[in-house]
Amino acid sequence: MGYIKSAALEETGYVVLDRYNKEIDPKEWLDIEYVDWKSSGDTRFAPLASAKGEIECNGFWNHKPPRTDKDGVWIDSQTAIAPTLTERAQEPGSNVGRCRVIELQPNTYADALYNLHQDDNNRLNPDGTGWVVRGFFNLTDDKDSYFVLRHNRTDPEGEVRIALPAGAQLIVDTQRLWHAAAHYGTEPRYCLITSWESGPQLDEYIAKYNGQEHVPSVEVEQDVLDAGQAEQTRRIAARAAALAARGQAEKAVMSEA
Ligand SMILES: [Fe+2]
Repeated sequence: MGYIKSAALEETGYVVLDRYNKEIDPKEWLDIEYVDWKSSGDTRFAPLASAKGEIECNGFWNHKPPRTDKDGVWIDSQTAIAPTLTERAQEPGSNVGRCRVIELQPNTYADALYNLHQDDNNRLNPDGTGWVVRGFFNLTDDKDSYFVLRHNRTDPEGEVRIALPAGAQLIVDTQRLWHAAAHYGTEPRYCLITSWESGPQLDEYIAKYNGQEHVPSVEVEQDVLDAGQAEQTRRIAARAAALAARGQAEKAVMSEA
């Protein structure tokens, strides 16, 4: 039968929507409650919706009974502080699973390459229903930062780098594409990440905001790209060697975020 997927994401695995152009009070992401949750890089997360409406970030399949990343329960104490973020996550009208704000400390392109991962969005997702993808709404104005997307973790061929100014909005099949953010600057980056079920509502939302399947990649000096690639190779090899020394195999690189 297969999953219901968005035609808009078929070719490249991502779309960039029109920029969100309204001001939001930073208190919406600064005053909500964060929990330490190790993801790609030095991160914390503030959930707006979770498996059971509690302030925690675990995959829904790790709860009892285990279930897929749909039907997230909104957390009243958080949504009361972040009404605009909640409204934006609910705007498509498609089923929402996890919804949270990520706080990412500054890093580099080399860090992003090492942090590249695929999300486990569709574990336990019943065949014939909508494929879960993720929306990323950049909240802080991170003019020098960008999202790195690759088809293959270690192969730069076809890499796309998407700019992350305030209001940048993208939807990514993060189970298909390897992804991580390169975040330059001195302050943390904040981004709202929402798990949405693919289907007619999400398709309409993508069309309404003119989802672009191809955007120009952020320009990065070739020597930075080359050095980042070399550093990724070095770190992956170092980690494999460390694991081998402990007699363990490399775990599948799969992240919650
Ligand atoms: Fe992710």
